[in-house]
Amino acid sequence: MFQIKTNWDLQASHAGLIIGVYDRPAKLEGFLAEVDQAFDGHLTELFKNNEISGKRKEITVIHTLGKFNIKKLIFVGLGKEKQSNFENIREVFGHAFKMLQKQKYTELAVALDSFVRGDVEILDLAHALGEGFTLATYRFEGYKQKSNEPEKQINSITIYSELADPEEINAAVTVGAVYGQGTNSARTLVNLPGNMLTATDMANYAEELAARYGFELEILEREDMERLGMGALLAVNQGSEQPPKMIVLKYDGKDEWTDVIGLVGKGITFDTGGYSLKTKDGIVGMKTDMGGAAAVLGAMEIIGELRPEQNVVAVIPSTDNMISGGALKPDDVITSMSGKTIEVLNTDAEGRLVLADAVTYAKHHGANYLIDVATLTGGVIVALGEDTTGALTNHEGLFEQVLESAYEAGEQMWRLPIFPKDKERVRNSKIADLNNSPGREGHAIMGGAFVGEFAEDTPWVHLDIAGTSVTKRDYDLGPSGATGAMTRTLALLVERFEPMK
Ligand code: BES
Ligand code: ZN
Ligand code: ZN
Repeated sequence: MFQIKTNWDLQASHAGLIIGVYDRPAKLEGFLAEVDQAFDGHLTELFKNNEISGKRKEITVIHTLGKFNIKKLIFVGLGKEKQSNFENIREVFGHAFKMLQKQKYTELAVALDSFVRGDVEILDLAHALGEGFTLATYRFEGYKQKSNEPEKQINSITIYSELADPEEINAAVTVGAVYGQGTNSARTLVNLPGNMLTATDMANYAEELAARYGFELEILEREDMERLGMGALLAVNQGSEQPPKMIVLKYDGKDEWTDVIGLVGKGITFDTGGYSLKTKDGIVGMKTDMGGAAAVLGAMEIIGELRPEQNVVAVIPSTDNMISGGALKPDDVITSMSGKTIEVLNTDAEGRLVLADAVTYAKHHGANYLIDVATLTGGVIVALGEDTTGALTNHEGLFEQVLESAYEAGEQMWRLPIFPKDKERVRNSKIADLNNSPGREGHAIMGGAFVGEFAEDTPWVHLDIAGTSVTKRDYDLGPSGATGAMTRTLALLVERFEPMK
């Protein structure tokens, strides 16, 4: 897919060469000066007359009319040099590749050095290119009878740069593509309908990942859960025809099993709400209720590719949330693996139930730090909208690391509090230790605080992606549908993680 070259080669034959332009350049330098000369100064003229624009995301295509083997010069506006940063550039790459793919380009070249400015280094640019391209050109095939015609795809990108070693550029662009690919895998899992992705399918997928990357794999069946007392996950599965799965993947990148990062992802393959049934409008889209599991599996793919020196245990509780004569009912009291009893006030608050046992099980596997990711509450959408993941924590240091990773991954995140009074509400039950639905007030906080009861003293961050896991609009880095939210944040966190006291 990616070839790296160090010298400008105007004789190379390319359908299009992508060139970054900041603002309106005062003077054409380097490669552009050469081109300008070949065009008798007309390129300078075009810039002067603003016919080639440096405005962010504006794309100007110039035909070379046989002057070079390169058929077209594709100028991509990068906006104001001072405002440019890594995230901006990744987005611009995404925007450009998406558009060029639509225009049926299959082979492209990039003058990478033209994108360099300020504090964005050439290797970061290469990463941004690899990631931006991979994310932006993602598509979910779907099941239409007619969509089988192969659409033209960009299949080759030649990167020109004189600013770094080609090996290093190649490594950076590949790492970017790996981050993009892991995110795309998560997107595909989320886009799959509930009948195409059952808990069993999810377990099989995890098994494939384990085989590919040498992860240790454990899949708990219903009998194992009964033996271990996972009453919360079992309760949610009670109304289902599909067997539940507790999926565990272990990656050991250190000599000893210490400083273990536990990644826990809600894997509800379809959420009807159970007897606290969702409305006919609210139920549509609930195939995406395994976005947390998808983010964890996507991150594990990235971890498997990049092999950081860290220990990770991924735990995914998976089932659908269905109705039948045997299903869980409001008012039922269940006993979680931790021993804590739960009064079920709302069967639609099932995510926190399955996470309860998963968090306990992650600790059982030695997790010293916990990050759970879940499409947990409609409340987080009311609070923060659809572009921002809600975070709750019991540990400042761990939260800072997660937030930093989210920032670098270009994923918006904002923290909500857990005050002692919030914990009181979660613990308010006459007949059990906890209740699973203290009411609508602040219910994103209630959901997180409930999971926190099971993290106990282990440093823990909860990420509510109910708003961010899917989007209705196409955007520069992907189509409408699943976003793969938090995949890159989790993988970056693991890559950069520093154990704390
Ligand atoms: N899966 C839903 C949350 C959700 C809502 C995800 C909208 C994506 C979009 C979750 O299981 C749920 O139903 N939560 C309830 C909790 C309530 C009953 C306490 C909610 O948010 O209404
Ligand atoms: Zn629910
Ligand atoms: Zn749910």
